Amino acid sequence: MTSSSVTPANPPYPALKGSNRQLFAFATISKRLPIILTKTIDDVYQAYHKLPPEESEKQAEAKQIIEKISRLKYELQHDKPLIPIEDDGEPDVQIWNDSLKKYFDGVGWYDSPWLFCECYMYRRIRETFSQSKHWKNYDPYFKQKIDAFRGSLLPVQELAKRFAEPPHIDNKEEEWVLFHELVQVCLWGNATDLSLLANMSAEEIKKLQSSGGRAQLAEKEKNILCNHIDRLWKHLQTLKGGRVDFILDNAGFELFVDLIFADWLIQAGYASKIQFHCKAIPWFVSDVMPVDFQWMIDNIAKFFGPEDQNLITLGQRWKSYIDQGLWYVRTDRFWTLGFAFWELVNQPALWEDLKQSQLLIFKGDLNFRKLTYDCQWPTTTPFEEAIGPLTQGPPVVVLRTNKADVCVGLPDGKEKEVEEKDKDWRYSGKYAVICFSNGNSSSQSI
Ligand code: F6P
Ligand code: MG
Repeated sequence: MTSSSVTPANPPYPALKGSNRQLFAFATISKRLPIILTKTIDDVYQAYHKLPPEESEKQAEAKQIIEKISRLKYELQHDKPLIPIEDDGEPDVQIWNDSLKKYFDGVGWYDSPWLFCECYMYRRIRETFSQSKHWKNYDPYFKQKIDAFRGSLLPVQELAKRFAEPPHIDNKEEEWVLFHELVQVCLWGNATDLSLLANMSAEEIKKLQSSGGRAQLAEKEKNILCNHIDRLWKHLQTLKGGRVDFILDNAGFELFVDLIFADWLIQAGYASKIQFHCKAIPWFVSDVMPVDFQWMIDNIAKFFGPEDQNLITLGQRWKSYIDQGLWYVRTDRFWTLGFAFWELVNQPALWEDLKQSQLLIFKGDLNFRKLTYDCQWPTTTPFEEAIGPLTQGPPVVVLRTNKADVCVGLPDGKEKEVEEKDKDWRYSGKYAVICFSNGNSSSQSI
């Protein structure tokens, strides 16, 4: 199939939809999303209760927001058609409504692709806040992000101790070992997004978050079902201070480990500039917005209690990267649309900018779903095939723990092997993939 016949309503393989009860898509739409909406309402309700009586206008708006989110929950639970986004002054209203009309006119939550309707839900939530006067900049997930990060004290201290002073490396072999470890830390940092935490015990979360030393990482490496880390290493060796982009996923612990990795890329001389792409609006509960990024830089030293010297050092260095323009943060509305990343090539400004990069590092499950069009590919489909037109751009790597049905890049026989061990392997967050594509780069990988 050529990419021109591929549309949001017609992915390269049948879309993953909630109408198929066997899929995690069904479990998400029927159970997880209503819980997320309820928690969103709870957050606003609590914030409302803290308001002094003189803020009556803000109180009245909170009630309206709660009512609208309740209505949204009703629509979802009764499988009503997806309705247009109301004009809330945000710059993407037209794009959303054009795509709703063109591809999903009259289609309900369970019959539209899971990818699209889940993104749509977060955009509808946003609408309720954007239409207000006093809650425009309110993030109903900020508190959850902070609270979850509080539980990461031990792994954060452990990593800060090792990386506050850039590690002394004597030779390529040692550097390769360190790189291996860092990539894995960065990968498993994605295991615990807030929309999935409910499915794991506290013990399991701790285990996933702690890097636990090299032995434990080697053990976890067995759960990386497609592992192109050597191709990524080979590509890095061609970079001599180029630009690297992170298309970020979650705030808190995952962002912390992403920054540790980004810091190392600078210190080791592989990157001279790093561009971080954040979400412009509250997204999938735990995703990073610019304000979360800034919060990390400003608060990391003091967040966990008495100031930790290693964290002070890291925070100061990261701030200096930003001040010197070595690190910079940007957003683009494209990241919070309902489209797969095959559409990136039709976003001239963003795509032209991304093409200036020598490596695009996509973090997380949702980014993986968007890269691969969130459809029913055979799991042995090569990653390059699944990302379609993106192979025309710079090299791409995705570090993703598996939290949704779609999976590609597996060697023959792997699916059967893992299926026999663990029926939930596609979405439990305990398995992962590191998929690399060389893009149109002339340097040949393996
Ligand atoms: O709610 C479903 C989902 O898209 C899952 O794919 C995943 O659990 C989560 O939301 C997002 O995960 P991530 O933060 O890794 O993109
Ligand atoms: Mg996320």
